[in-house]
Amino acid sequence: MSKRTLTAPRVHVACATTFGTTGEIAADIANVLRQRGNTVTTGPIGDGIDSADIDALIIGAPIHYDTWTSPARNFVKDNEAFLRTIPVAYFFTCGTLFEPTGKALAAAQKYANTLERLSDHIAPVSIGQFAGVLDYSRMNFATRIALKIPFTLMGVAEGDYRNWDAIRSWTLSLHRHFRRAGGERVPSAGFETVRLRRTPQPADSRSAPRNS
Ligand SMILES: Cc1cc2nc3c(=O)[nH]c(=O)nc-3n(C[C@H](O)[C@H](O)[C@H](O)COP(=O)(O)O)c2cc1C
Repeated sequence: MSKRTLTAPRVHVACATTFGTTGEIAADIANVLRQRGNTVTTGPIGDGIDSADIDALIIGAPIHYDTWTSPARNFVKDNEAFLRTIPVAYFFTCGTLFEPTGKALAAAQKYANTLERLSDHIAPVSIGQFAGVLDYSRMNFATRIALKIPFTLMGVAEGDYRNWDAIRSWTLSLHRHFRRAGGERVPSAGFETVRLRRTPQPADSRSAPRNS
């Protein structure tokens, strides 16, 4: 397969978000890449996209109960054959990083290690680890109780802990990486253009940002 040289690869940012705040990060990542000259599409994980239309992919989702939410995990597994042919980056949001102590950083790194091992065939170029948002008013009663008890015990207050500088600096590092990769596809035996598979979406994992 011949190398296609591109200075600004086409990037798709696919995101799962329960309360919208990870979706806002995905939108910001898309904007920063657009400002740098990339053609960027974005949408919920599971919205169909043609593999022929993208040269690089960013997949983001929150951590829930110690795992990357299922739409993201399923999407990676369902589309391994294509994803192994292009640069792919993952990111997650979590509450663990609300207070970035040594213990919290180690716990977040464990999440990242799990994501890295998600597929034997995909080596993500980077895994962004970001603090998210804790807003009990968005949660139903059961979820609020499930989160309020541990976070209160840890002394963590409600708030928006997203570090936009860290998110933008990660995005710029990806931009440089994608540009270096130049739209080159790794040859994959018998690979044809495919429509990336939709995965079933639990009702609570793909809602649009609440306030948009
Ligand atoms: C049901 C639920 C479970 C969560 N479990 C974890 C967890 O195990 N570890 C963690 O670090 N953060 C956890 N969080 C925090 C979320 O990752 C964080 O609030 C994130 O910003 C939510 O993103 P969203 O608004 O896109 O859904 C949990 C949040 C919810 C709502």
